[in-house]
Amino acid sequence: MQSVRAVILGFGTVGQGIFNIAQQRRAELREQHQVELVIAKVLVTDAARAGRALPEGFDASLLTDKIEDVLASGPIDTVFECMVGAQPAYDHVRALVQQHGCAVVTANKVMFAKHGAALRELAGAAGRQVGYEACVAGGVPVIKTLQNMKLVQHITKVEGILNGTTNFILTSMRTNPGKSYEATLAEAQAKGYAEADPYNDVSGMDAFSKLMILSELAFGAQPAWPEVPVVGIQEITAAKVAEASAQQQRYRHVASTELVTEGGQRKIVASIRPLLVDAQHALYAVEDVHNAVAVSTDYLGVVTLMGPGAGMYPTASVMVEDWLTFVQQNKLKSGSA
Ligand code: HSE
Repeated sequence: MQSVRAVILGFGTVGQGIFNIAQQRRAELREQHQVELVIAKVLVTDAARAGRALPEGFDASLLTDKIEDVLASGPIDTVFECMVGAQPAYDHVRALVQQHGCAVVTANKVMFAKHGAALRELAGAAGRQVGYEACVAGGVPVIKTLQNMKLVQHITKVEGILNGTTNFILTSMRTNPGKSYEATLAEAQAKGYAEADPYNDVSGMDAFSKLMILSELAFGAQPAWPEVPVVGIQEITAAKVAEASAQQQRYRHVASTELVTEGGQRKIVASIRPLLVDAQHALYAVEDVHNAVAVSTDYLGVVTLMGPGAGMYPTASVMVEDWLTFVQQNKLKSGSA
């Protein structure tokens, strides 16, 4: 039995989901994969915060609010990073990789959009991997799919709904006409869909980070950030939604990145904005917290993936998948599979 020691940075919805899955799948991990996931330390903002709700079976003595405690918690094989914002998340992960040579699994799209390339280089120099499936579209396996497609396909466009909260709000505004925006947003927060600061969801900034990650993966580069128009859903009123419904149309918040050739030069053109779509459009049927990503390639035409784009288990489960993939790859490398 291989024992893998890991730390979790950030213990909100997603971090707690990782702990829960490790508990729920403990027997399967042992029997099918001969591996034990040991959570050695958990970093939170304030370890002494009163009234903190913790998962059943969690040992509260693992909590700390000092990264030094995490760094000193013995050998660490994997860091699960589920913090908010680029900093201090990036510095923490970098220190862990430098000191422990650990693999990284992250759900932090803001950090990864900004520092993903540098982080992969750093981890690669230590012979380790970085998993970031959870950064984009929650449980929808878009990163793995693009990585695989890129082996042969030429990807020309990636377009979709990348934020679960906004899709949940737009759906709810249509299906519950009398319900207030505030009540709907509060429900999205209670369900663990919305960001700590939901401005990032409704303004399109959350989708922006995800789109930059997809651009980098699909095209090997991100567009210049100031050149990307980002329009949120704040201007979509109940009256506009009702008007669209009367025309058999729906609002969707669409993020798009495309490789175009202008004057013989290849350029990435990206945008995030609300779109009115009708029943013929691929995104018309994507409801509630679901995300969808349509990938256009030369050999395939358009391939569309759809599924839950936010929430504890969709997001945390793909992080555990990333981790387990690394465990299996490392076993193969060491010949112990
Ligand atoms: N707040 C994000 C969303 C969480 O609603 O999509 C998943 O990245």
